[in-house]
Amino acid sequence: MPAILASAPGKAILFGEHAVVYGRPAIAVPVTQVQAKASVIADPLGPPGRVHIQAPDIQLESDLANLPVDDPIVLAVQGVLQALEADHLPTLTLRISSTIPVAAGLGSGAAVSVAILRALSAFLGHPLPDETISALAFEVEKKHHGTPSGIDNTVVTYARPIFFTRGLPFELLKPVEAFTLIIADSGVKCPTHLAVGGVREAWQADQDRYEALFDAIGQISRQARQIITCGPILALGPLMIENHHLLQQVGVSSAELDLLVETAMQAGAVGAKLSGAGRGGNMIGLAAEDNVDKISAALSSAGAKRVIISRVHPVMAEQE
Ligand code: MEV
Repeated sequence: MPAILASAPGKAILFGEHAVVYGRPAIAVPVTQVQAKASVIADPLGPPGRVHIQAPDIQLESDLANLPVDDPIVLAVQGVLQALEADHLPTLTLRISSTIPVAAGLGSGAAVSVAILRALSAFLGHPLPDETISALAFEVEKKHHGTPSGIDNTVVTYARPIFFTRGLPFELLKPVEAFTLIIADSGVKCPTHLAVGGVREAWQADQDRYEALFDAIGQISRQARQIITCGPILALGPLMIENHHLLQQVGVSSAELDLLVETAMQAGAVGAKLSGAGRGGNMIGLAAEDNVDKISAALSSAGAKRVIISRVHPVMAEQE
């Protein structure tokens, strides 16, 4: 029996991170240059009922039964079993790999969950629809990120640009034209739940101030939706800078991220901001095509640990 393979891309939040947890809209795009992959292969010679997990990127090789009950892999496997009303898996090996940096704001956790959910459900003969995959990945996110909004699991499941408001149906966005994002890693890891938890404490201490910041960020996301769908795309630049300044006030930027944002702007980007939970992780810059290489080189010289050039295409909104 051949292996069943599934994948999910990384993601970048263009506008609205953190505010989205508090009900304001946000915009996210898939980053297909980085991917999580899962493959499932039947293991007829293995001990009956053994589910063997191989995740060489995180030096994990273990039977599922030996992993902690709250391990995201265990939770994803249980999610598939529950959705398919199955009580056990046949003997198999689940291999997981990912090129999405961990704890860096690019959606690694959600993408790994989505890849596992897709591969396992397909292996069992019942590939789950996107809506169920996203909902199950959200359940895993909730156990690991405290109070996630649901934007990460949604964008990596559908692999298209989205306008997302917690608790409402999301909108697929069709950009008026293709555009290029320069994504640079500060090299500082910060798990999402720490940044999200820190913001919650600050919000609890001063709700009026934080609600006003979130309102301003939500307003930027609404303006950005209009620009993305009607153009001109480079008019997003000033909104990115404004969003970055608001995120500084929210308390989730860092010296490294501010330096990379400043560097991108000086090298000719039209806009730049931190992306994702912040306190480390990645920033994104937007630039006209002929400036991209220069900005990328400037970011590397300024200490970026990795630079990804990612194209956002209108056609992403049409894939089915
Ligand atoms: C993380 O990619 C985005 C945050 O807004 C958290 C969330 O929405 O769940 C920081």
